[in-house]
Amino acid sequence: MKLEINGIHSYYEKSHVLEGVSLQVNPGELVTLLGRNGAGKTTTLRSIAGIVKPAKGSIMFNNEELIGREIFDIARKGVLLVPEHRGIFGILSVEENLAIAVRSSSRWSLADIYEMFPRLYERRKNGGNALSGGEQQMLAIARALVNDPKLLLLDEPTEGLAPVIVDEIVRILQKIRSAGVSVLLVEQNLAVCEKLADRHYVIEQGRVVYSGSGEQFRQEQEIKNRYLAV
Ligand SMILES: Nc1ncnc2c1ncn2[C@@H]1O[C@H](COP(=O)(O)OP(=O)(O)OP(=O)(O)O)[C@@H](O)[C@H]1O
Ligand SMILES: [Mg+2]
Repeated sequence: MKLEINGIHSYYEKSHVLEGVSLQVNPGELVTLLGRNGAGKTTTLRSIAGIVKPAKGSIMFNNEELIGREIFDIARKGVLLVPEHRGIFGILSVEENLAIAVRSSSRWSLADIYEMFPRLYERRKNGGNALSGGEQQMLAIARALVNDPKLLLLDEPTEGLAPVIVDEIVRILQKIRSAGVSVLLVEQNLAVCEKLADRHYVIEQGRVVYSGSGEQFRQEQEIKNRYLAV
C-alpha cells in the first residue's frame, strides 16, 4: 500500500527536528532513508508510527490520514515499526515473543517464520535476553511479520552486526519485498541499501535534500560525499 508524506514538521519539546519532510513509498517498493547521525531519520519513522506527533503536514497511508491517530490504531492498519533497539522482551522466550504478536489473519504463520529464520527455530525456547544481536534483530523482524505488515518501517536493522548476519538480513528483506510488503528502510550501510532499494531519499537537518532511483544513486558520488559519512 502507498505511503505519502507531505511537508511534516515534528518537534521534541521546542526543538524543531523535521522541517517539512516529504516522501513517498509506492505499493511494494523498498525505499531507503539515508542521512547523517541526527539528520532526522528515526524521527521520521516515529512520526509515521504515531510515536511522535507532527505539528504540521500530512501522512497518508492507503488514502487515510495517519496524523492524529493513536499508535495502536496505526499498527492495526499494518504500519509496523521495528525500532533501532529492537524492543523484544528479554524475559519471554523467542516463541513467546512471537506468540504475543501473532495476528491470525497474517500471511506468515509461525511455521513460515521458522522456515525463513532457521536460527529462531533453533533458539525458540531461549529467553529474549539470551540472543545475540543478530538473533534479536531477526526476532524483531519476525515479530513484525507475524503481525501482518502492509508497510514495514525498519530502523538500522544491520547496525553492529557481523557481515554474515548482515547478508542474512539482506536475504530476509529481499523475501519480504518479494512478498509485496512496502518497506521504508533507514540504514547506514550503503552496500546494503544499494542491493535492496528501488529508490533512495537523503535527509539532512530535517529536510529531504536528495531523492533518486537505485540506478541513479549508484552514480551519485558527490551526494554520498556531501551528505553521508562515506
Ligand atoms: N527524544 C528526544 N528528545 C530531544 N531531542 C531528540 C530526541 N530524539 C532525537 N532528538 C534530536 O532530534 C534530531 C534528530 O534525531 P533522530 O534520532 O531522528 O536522528 P537520526 O537521523 O535517526 O540519527 P542517527 O543516525 O544517530 O540514528 C537530533 O538532533 C537529535 O538529537
Ligand atoms: Mg536514528
